[in-house]
Amino acid sequence: MLGERGTFSRIGFIVAAAGSAIGLGNIWKFPYITYANQGGSFVLIYLAAVVLIGAPIMIAEILIGRRTKKSPVGAFLELGKEVVGGRLWSAVGVLGVAAGFIILSYYSVVAGWTVYYFGRCLYWSATGFTAEIASGLGDAFGTFLANGALQVAFHAFFMLTTMVVISLGVQKGIERVTKTLMPVLFSLLALLCVVSVWSPGFQQAIGYLFHVGPIGRDGVLEAVGQAFFSLSLGMGAIITYGSYISRRVSIPRDAAFICALDTLIAMMASVVMFSIIFSVPEAERASQFTKSAVILFTTLPRMFYELPGGVLFAPLFYLLVAFAALTSTISLLEVVVSYFIDQRGWNRVRATFGVGSLVFLAGVGSALSFGASAGLSGWAPLGERNAGVFGVLDYLAANWLLPMGGLFIALFCGWFLSNRLTREELSQSGGYAGLHAAWKFLVRVVCPLAIAWIIAAVAGGKAFN
Ligand code: PHE
Repeated sequence: MLGERGTFSRIGFIVAAAGSAIGLGNIWKFPYITYANQGGSFVLIYLAAVVLIGAPIMIAEILIGRRTKKSPVGAFLELGKEVVGGRLWSAVGVLGVAAGFIILSYYSVVAGWTVYYFGRCLYWSATGFTAEIASGLGDAFGTFLANGALQVAFHAFFMLTTMVVISLGVQKGIERVTKTLMPVLFSLLALLCVVSVWSPGFQQAIGYLFHVGPIGRDGVLEAVGQAFFSLSLGMGAIITYGSYISRRVSIPRDAAFICALDTLIAMMASVVMFSIIFSVPEAERASQFTKSAVILFTTLPRMFYELPGGVLFAPLFYLLVAFAALTSTISLLEVVVSYFIDQRGWNRVRATFGVGSLVFLAGVGSALSFGASAGLSGWAPLGERNAGVFGVLDYLAANWLLPMGGLFIALFCGWFLSNRLTREELSQSGGYAGLHAAWKFLVRVVCPLAIAWIIAAVAGGKAFN
C-alpha cells in the first residue's frame, strides 16, 4: 500500500499547496474584511499574523506530513506513539477530517456561484449588459439564491469536478490540474491589476490599502482568524499534501513561498476590488458596501461592465475565482479521501466517489439554506447571527475547528515532538542556523497564546464571517 502513495514534484508541491491556500478566502473574504477594517493597519497586522502564526504552523503541518508520509489521522497515530498522550493525538487528525468534510460541503456551494456568474457574464457580454440588468442585480442574486434546483445543480457540478480531479491521483490529478490552473489564475489576476491602474478609483484604492491608522481589538482577532482560513491551516490539508513530498525539500523555504504567494494574491485581489469599489461615487459606496458577502455577486458585475473592457474582464474575473476555489476544494476533498485510503485501505476511486457523494449530500443542506427551504434557512441553533445551515457550519468550522486544530498542531510540535526529530526535519536541504530555535519558540509559546486568545474571544461571542 505504501508504494502506491503518490509523490509531488518539488514545484508541484508548492503549486498544489499554494492552490489550496489561495481561494475564496483571498479573493472574496480578504478584500472585504480589509475594507471593513480601514485598510492599511489591518494589512500590517495580517502580515504579522502570517509571519508569526501562519508560517510556523504551516511548517509544523508540512513536517508532520512528510515525517510520517501519512494523512492526518495516521500521522498523529504514528507520531503520538512516541509521546505522552499516545493514540489520543489521533483525535486531532479526526477533527481535521471532519473539518475538511464540513468546509467542503458549504465551500462547494459558494464555488458553484462563481461558475454560475461566469456563465451569466458570458451571456451578458454576448447579449449586452443593460441598465435594467444593472439595477436588478441585487434582486437577481436573491432569486438565484432562493432557487433550490440551481443551487444544488451548481454545487453538484463543482463537487463532481473536484471528484474527477481527486480520482486521478496525486500526480495526474492534483499536481497536473493545479499546475495548469494556478498560472492562469495568476496571469488573469495580474492582468486585472494592470487594468485597474486606469480605473478612476485606483489611486484612492492604493491609498486606502496602505493607509495606516488606528485599529481595534476585533480587527486584530480577525486578522489572525483570516490567516488560518486563508492559509488552509488547522485541518490537515497541508499535512496531507506534505505527506506527498520527498526528503529533499526544504520545509521552511517551501512554507515561506506558499505563505508569500497566498498573501500576494490576497493583496492583488484587494487592489482589483478596491479599484472597482472606489470607482463608484462616495454616497453610493457607503450604502452598498456594508454587506460583505454579496458584493462579489451584486455590485461587482455592474462595475466591471462600467469599466472599459468589462465585456472581457467580467467573465474572466469569475473564471479566475472559480479556478481559485477549485484548487481549494481539491485539497479539502483530498484530506477526507486520503483518510479512507490510508487508514481504511480503500482504493482511490472508490474513496473519492464514495466520500464525494456524501459531501455533496451534506452540502445540499447548505445549498437550500439561502431561501430555497425556509426551515433550513432559518435554522439557528446558535442564535440568529449564524442562521441557516450554511451560516452554522461556516461558523463552526472557521471559528472553532480550524483554531482548535491549529492549537493542537502547535502544541504537539512545540511541546511533544522531540527537538531531535523536529530539527532533523527542518534542517534538511540547507537548514538555517537559528531557524529551528526561532520556530520552536513560535509554536511553543506565541502560536498557542495567540490561538487561545482567539478561542476565548469566540467563546465570548465573537464570530468571524
Ligand atoms: N484556504 C482556502 C481559501 O482561502 C480555504 C481552505 C481552508 C482550503 C481550509 C482548505 C482548507 O479559500
